[in-house]
Amino acid sequence: MTTLQAVKGMNDVLPAESASWQRLESAFRSWTVRYGYREIRTPIVEPTALFLRSIGDTTDIVEKEMYSFVDKGEHSLALRPEGTASAVRAVLEHNLVNLEPVSKLTYIGPMFRRERPAKGRYRQFHQAGAELFGDPGPYSDAEMIDMLVGFLDSVGIRDIEVLVNSLGGPSTRPAYRDALVAYLEPQRSSLCADCQRRLDSNPLRVLDCKVEGCKAIAKDAPTVIEFLSDEDRAHFEGLKKTLDTLGTPYRIEPRLVRGLDYYTRTLFEIKGRGGELGAQDTICGGGRYDGLVEQLGGPSTPAIGFGIGLERLRLMTNAAPEAQRVDAFIVSGGPAELPAATLLARELRHAGLVVDADLRGQSFKSQLRRADKLSARFALIVGDREIASGTVQVKDLVQKTQTEVPRADACTYIVRTLGETK
Ligand code: HAM
Repeated sequence: MTTLQAVKGMNDVLPAESASWQRLESAFRSWTVRYGYREIRTPIVEPTALFLRSIGDTTDIVEKEMYSFVDKGEHSLALRPEGTASAVRAVLEHNLVNLEPVSKLTYIGPMFRRERPAKGRYRQFHQAGAELFGDPGPYSDAEMIDMLVGFLDSVGIRDIEVLVNSLGGPSTRPAYRDALVAYLEPQRSSLCADCQRRLDSNPLRVLDCKVEGCKAIAKDAPTVIEFLSDEDRAHFEGLKKTLDTLGTPYRIEPRLVRGLDYYTRTLFEIKGRGGELGAQDTICGGGRYDGLVEQLGGPSTPAIGFGIGLERLRLMTNAAPEAQRVDAFIVSGGPAELPAATLLARELRHAGLVVDADLRGQSFKSQLRRADKLSARFALIVGDREIASGTVQVKDLVQKTQTEVPRADACTYIVRTLGETK
């Protein structure tokens, strides 16, 4: 029989890797809390229509990459490809936008896109994201970007570049769209088949095409920045000025466009360098989506957010596999001493220590070998002699000493010694 394997592009996080995941996640939580964000947890499965109506039905994500299925012949559902649409759905469903003037939400979780798997590009990947509703910016836009840079710095990721652009809003887009179509139309036959379609349905998407011929054409296309209306330009200037005041380094990239349709005005991306990060070097993408809440049936509400790819961050940090710290390993003399050994282990665990034991009744020697293998700080020996005399033998495996301690004092002794020698 063939053994079953994980789905291509979907990875297990093994125990040796989970500590570094937890560190990244807790640093992210700690940074977002400082800026007033609170966690939201939404389902992994949503109605397919949510993504069609938000990400856009002519985007690659929706056209080619979404895992959607019909549930028992009834509802069209999809594994979420990103977190923004779900956050907006939840905000509307629970009326959060009307409860607070500004709502700041954050999330960490798996997302699903049926892309061609490569280093840094997976079919199940994890995003740490944040969404801010109710503030039109641009000061909150700059603050969000600055928060991201602070978080990345705190986890040792400094070799980055922050790219910013403005896509303008409704007062800019129609004129820009016309100019873009006027530029692309004469070159229609040189565009790929997808872009020839996009030229009619969604010309901005042509600028994001990965096909070389289209990239060459897009390179000389007019940029949105040249067409910004006075309000949109003032917004962009406010963003730049605030980033300058905060001392957040950034580069204006007038050709930056992203693969989701909901963006308006501020758009940003953080690229990383170094570690094992290869071609998939965009570690974070985000931007403003002032029209999306209304588009999904809510009141007109400005909003901005970002998503960080956690697998890509891990590739940058070269996180080495880590063993779990073990404070003490309990060694029992034999099966008769196992009940007393488990009681001692329990007492230490309740005191907050990391304690392991082998409860299978193995030989004394094999238990000590196991304690060594786990790099336990102490081996605590509970044999018949110790039980009879009301003691525990404490072998300090680092200092290479052995002490007999009264059983009643064992826990205090270990806690104190660990505290003194940390
Ligand atoms: P996105 O640019 O599609 O934006 O994804 C954000 C980040 O998720 C990317 O920069 C990348 O680090 C990571 N990512 C995307 N696809 C993959 C993949 N297949 N494998 C590994 N990592 C991946 C969004 O998803 C928006 N929801 C961001 C946002 C929030 N905009 C406003 N609010």
